[in-house]
Amino acid sequence: MNHVPVLEEAAVDALNVRENGIYLDATFGRGGHARRILDRLGPRGLLIALDADPEAIAFGEREFGEEPRLRLVRCNFRELGSVVGQLGPDSGIDGILMDLGLSSPQLDSAERGFSFRHDGPLDMRMDPDAGVPAADWLAEVSEAELVEVLSSLGEERFARRIARGILAARERSPIRTTAALAAVVERAVPGHAVHSARIHPATRTFQAIRIAVNRELEALDEALQAAIEALAPGGRLVVISFHSLEDRRVKQALRAASQPPPASRRMPSAPDFRPRLKTVGKLVRPSEVEQASNPRARSARMRVAERIAVAGQGESA
Ligand SMILES: C[S@@+](CC[C@H](N)C(=O)[O-])C[C@H]1O[C@@H](n2cnc3c(N)ncnc32)[C@H](O)[C@@H]1O
Repeated sequence: MNHVPVLEEAAVDALNVRENGIYLDATFGRGGHARRILDRLGPRGLLIALDADPEAIAFGEREFGEEPRLRLVRCNFRELGSVVGQLGPDSGIDGILMDLGLSSPQLDSAERGFSFRHDGPLDMRMDPDAGVPAADWLAEVSEAELVEVLSSLGEERFARRIARGILAARERSPIRTTAALAAVVERAVPGHAVHSARIHPATRTFQAIRIAVNRELEALDEALQAAIEALAPGGRLVVISFHSLEDRRVKQALRAASQPPPASRRMPSAPDFRPRLKTVGKLVRPSEVEQASNPRARSARMRVAERIAVAGQGESA
């Protein structure tokens, strides 16, 4: 299936694209947002686009190969700072977009092992050359860690039962395919919960294992800090997230850079706090029309912030 970008117009509007500006798309995917940004850039503008997935980069090279204003870089977005150091101007980047999660072709490809809807090898790596496949991770993980991952990264209320089910199943034979994992989870969850659930009983387990295997939250935290650092004064950071764990991290990072820490008895105020960001507008959700036409949009949340020039920045002490 083609990838239909979520909040396409709204996200690119929020970036405030200037004709000759320099922008960074940290999650190129199938280039939906990137194409919109390029449409608004003049001949001297530049878009740096990152993706960890070699298939996304190969797609970009095929579809945008002749585009002189685009630099495609295959890397994890946690390396955003060093990419900007190499390709960006010293004055900073005018806008950074992060459209988190997976693209539809990743989800739909059985070979990538992200989805219980398509049987394939249990892999789940965004970059197939980095880290370990989910099957190997699952073969080694302890019960305690698995319970922790399922409950904290999947917000799965049957974490304990599912972890026990997985450990018992792997004693019998290794769990190497998406269908095998989905079947184990389905057997472990109580029957009434399977029948009354609005979502497939394995949804949260797959989400949790994917986040753990790709270390997604750590990468997100690092990339958010690097992005805030890389922005030029007035530059915009636009982040679209797809589950509450991501959105919480984004909200916290934007808050920490825009507001002093809340006063406490030990630390009544933070006199040295200098905001580096100001938040722009409120949380944005896709319209009902977009949600109806694109199921991926249902859980999307977009936050926007703008880099503030720090007084005295660049002056010697
Ligand atoms: C939702 S898609 C982006 C879709 C894109 N905005 C479009 O319009 O086509 C997310 C993309 O980000 C990539 N991605 C997710 N986490 C990443 C990370 N930590 N580093 C680099 N790329 C990442 C995925 O491989 C995927 O291609």
